Amino acid sequence: MPRFPRFDPSERLGLPAEALPRHVAIIMDGNGRWAKRRRRARIWGHRAGVASVRAVAIECARLGIDRLTLYAFSQENWKRPEREVSILWKLLRSFLVRERREIMDNDIRFTAIGRLEGLPDFVRRELRETERLSARNPGMTLCLALNYGGRAEIVDAARSLAEDVRRGLLSPSAIDEAAIASRLYAPDAPDPDLLVRTAGEQRVSNFLLWQISYAEFHVTPVCWPEFREPHLHEALREYARRDRRFGALPAEAPAG
Ligand code: FPP
Repeated sequence: MPRFPRFDPSERLGLPAEALPRHVAIIMDGNGRWAKRRRRARIWGHRAGVASVRAVAIECARLGIDRLTLYAFSQENWKRPEREVSILWKLLRSFLVRERREIMDNDIRFTAIGRLEGLPDFVRRELRETERLSARNPGMTLCLALNYGGRAEIVDAARSLAEDVRRGLLSPSAIDEAAIASRLYAPDAPDPDLLVRTAGEQRVSNFLLWQISYAEFHVTPVCWPEFREPHLHEALREYARRDRRFGALPAEAPAG
């Protein structure tokens, strides 16, 4: 028995459970713009964004979504002023410590992807601890993409395959899509079904490049610090209306 209230998706948003995506990925954007409009420092927006992370993660977990991947820090984000970067790491650390209880109470399994060796030690410690504590939780997997780049992930997969070829463990002709997928950062995760981007920009920004091949894209003008349960519901409803064909013809279309 789960210890937390699970929502019935048909009662909560008028959709049968089968109509929900298994894996939702979110590009959390617009923290800076949200703060600027309020004449506040950018960091104010990041702080407010943490509340959205909490609300959206709990809602997804309670709806029975399998996996939620949040783009929290890209490799390109190192180009920001040092002070902003350092406050982002502190926010992440305090999120991990403060929300551990909530993660456990909601049966969430916490994990992270990216070049994690490049993160500050004080963040890696808390990531490892949250991962360890929540490893056996049976509910949703919450995955943070940190120091993450989609191209870097593919490079790392290619290097790992090349190393096996060099050691004589793998033949180049055995390298296929499944082999590459098996060397990604989270090889057992299903591909995202739904990719949400907040704050209106219509680009992918080096996020999960391999995995989003057939994801449905939902762009909302709402900035991340304002993104809450009703906005998530809107994205899920729109997803449920999409006709996913994976390159095939619609079921009723005549052949030829
Ligand atoms: C994009 O907004 C957001 C980020 C680069 C960082 C996201 C971080 C958080 C939501 C807070 C900490 C995260 C966790 C998981 C606790 P932006 O600054 O690029 O906004 P802008 O495009 O309006 O400038």
